[in-house]
Amino acid sequence: MNILITGGAGYIGSHVAKQLLETTTYNITILDNLSTGSAKTLDTLKTIRDFKFIELDLKEFDKVNSALKEKKINTIIHFAASIVVPESVENPLKYYMNNTVNTTNLIKRAVENNVSKFIFSSTAAVYGEPTNIPNTGVDESYPTNPINPYGMSKLMSEKVLQDTASVNSDFKYVIFRYFNVAGASADLTIGECHEPETHLIPLVAKTALGKRDKILIYGDDYPTKDGSNLRDYVHVLDLADAHIKAIDFLNENSSNIFNCGYGKGFSVKEVVKTMKLVTNTNFISEIVSRRAGDPAILVSDNRKIKSKMNWIPKYEDLPLICKSAYDWENRLGEEIGTK
Ligand SMILES: NC(=O)c1ccc[n+]([C@@H]2O[C@H](COP(=O)([O-])OP(=O)(O)OC[C@H]3O[C@@H](n4cnc5c(N)ncnc54)[C@H](O)[C@@H]3O)[C@@H](O)[C@H]2O)c1
Repeated sequence: MNILITGGAGYIGSHVAKQLLETTTYNITILDNLSTGSAKTLDTLKTIRDFKFIELDLKEFDKVNSALKEKKINTIIHFAASIVVPESVENPLKYYMNNTVNTTNLIKRAVENNVSKFIFSSTAAVYGEPTNIPNTGVDESYPTNPINPYGMSKLMSEKVLQDTASVNSDFKYVIFRYFNVAGASADLTIGECHEPETHLIPLVAKTALGKRDKILIYGDDYPTKDGSNLRDYVHVLDLADAHIKAIDFLNENSSNIFNCGYGKGFSVKEVVKTMKLVTNTNFISEIVSRRAGDPAILVSDNRKIKSKMNWIPKYEDLPLICKSAYDWENRLGEEIGTK
């Protein structure tokens, strides 16, 4: 098995790469332009076992093609993307070019080079602002209606994958729609390191460590139990495990789309409270006005991934996720694992 991981120097891709390097003998190639990924993370992965690294931008279509050919790639796990929602509103073309155009080219070259499995990082942002959510959460058949170019760029890529697979019987995909990913590797050698950071849990962890003055809570008048919005936080290690499972899943099963979350919502205020509790810290949180495009509730229905892929989460615990993010941030403060 020759696996190409695009974006393997980034947050989620590096956790999947780590798990593959540790638990399989597959040949791994990481392709990354290091735009947001970290060379130090790659050095850390190299200490597990050897893999190939190609420093390349996906927009270099011909070189991507050569890489697939030379490494005889048969499976692609595609993480590389631009991921900052507000930036996508300001600069939509960056997102359509990097996420949709580059993914379309990768899919085209994959089919031409007989790649048989394509695992794609999509997002709960494809659901937009769901209303009338059932108690069981948003399932994969819930209408998609992204409200920003980031979500749309991912939904368009999903469509390209689906249409391509429908006329190429040897080409199968798994699309994962991630909910809110957080946490770090158990040994704290790799973790989340976005610049700028826009995700709640690392921001709260930074605040607990005094790297930020306060945490802003955007709106406390939502129709939720405490007025702040509700999200589904999934530990990156459980998410990584789902990707490993997806490789085998495609041996026996047809292409499919899976939500990846725990199916349980926590409010922003609960995250703040939990972080204070598990780290024994106190810090300021400030209620400010709502942000445009923030749905009140975004929680997954995860019954499909559990039943069809036998995905059994091991880190489904908000205090554990908060502690993991905090410990990693603390380690970053000691300048371990930074770029
Ligand atoms: N982090 C989350 O909570 C979250 C939630 C939903 C979906 N996702 C999706 O998961 C994937 C990974 O997200 P992440 O948080 O690890 O992001 P990240 O920014 O940490 O990682 C992305 C990686 O892709 C690389 N990259 C970007 N554009 C590239 C290009 N044109 N050519 C080559 N390499 C390129 C970057 O250098 C980086 O290493 C993305 O597709 C994202 O949309 C993430």
